[in-house]
Amino acid sequence: MSDALDLPPGFTLLRLAEIDSTNEEARRLGEAGAAAYTFVWAERQSGGRGRRGRSWISPVGNGYCSLLLRPDVAPGVAAQVSFVAALAVAETIASLLPVGRKVACKWPNDVLVDGLKISGILLESRMGRQPGGRVDWLVVGVGINIASFPPGTDYPATALHEAGGAAPVEQVLEAYAVRMAHWLKIWRDDGFAPVRQAWLRWADGLGGKVVVRLADRTIEGIFSALDDSGALILSLPDGRERTVTAGDVFPAA
Ligand code: BTN
Repeated sequence: MSDALDLPPGFTLLRLAEIDSTNEEARRLGEAGAAAYTFVWAERQSGGRGRRGRSWISPVGNGYCSLLLRPDVAPGVAAQVSFVAALAVAETIASLLPVGRKVACKWPNDVLVDGLKISGILLESRMGRQPGGRVDWLVVGVGINIASFPPGTDYPATALHEAGGAAPVEQVLEAYAVRMAHWLKIWRDDGFAPVRQAWLRWADGLGGKVVVRLADRTIEGIFSALDDSGALILSLPDGRERTVTAGDVFPAA
């Protein structure tokens, strides 16, 4: 088992050799009343979860962590934290790769290196029981391919070591936690606008043709903007605009 992580002030580490899912463990902790900024890190997951019900293959050598938060906001606002995490991951990866590698954020919350997926983010939350609709807890789960990546995924993948980085898991997660603390403070103090602006500087495919896979169909258009809430604005071939709040984005052929 690796040494403990050196985390930013206020973070509490829960280090595990193996767990079903760090998101699931953080959820259990959230339900049990654990403090905000509990950082769950597992060396491997037996039931790692991805977005839209997919699984996240989780062998030793990659990074799996979930941060428990208790922001005093409504669920729609809490969802902005996925952009906070994507920014933190993008900055982390960029700082650990040789110059010349292109790191980008793919909407809504993947991170790419030279067009290949290196990290995915999964947010889960529970509404409080009080009227007013604030979240009770929010779990920010991040998976980073470091030593290996799964073959044959929907979106082609890579890993830090494959892309020329050499950092071990501990160094990657420590750097991520520092960037996460930094951007969470900005989000808390100044709102979504500076996060949105920074995310757009890393955005993949902005202004270009994309295909968006929705739950029930696929649409094509130009990724023209990100709105104030983080939704993707797609300019359709017939000139109309469509606001997309959930879907998978692929470059158009
Ligand atoms: C995706 O791209 O589909 C999101 C993947 C999120 C995976 C991470 S690994 C750590 C945390 N625990 C989980 O079960 N899932 C997230």
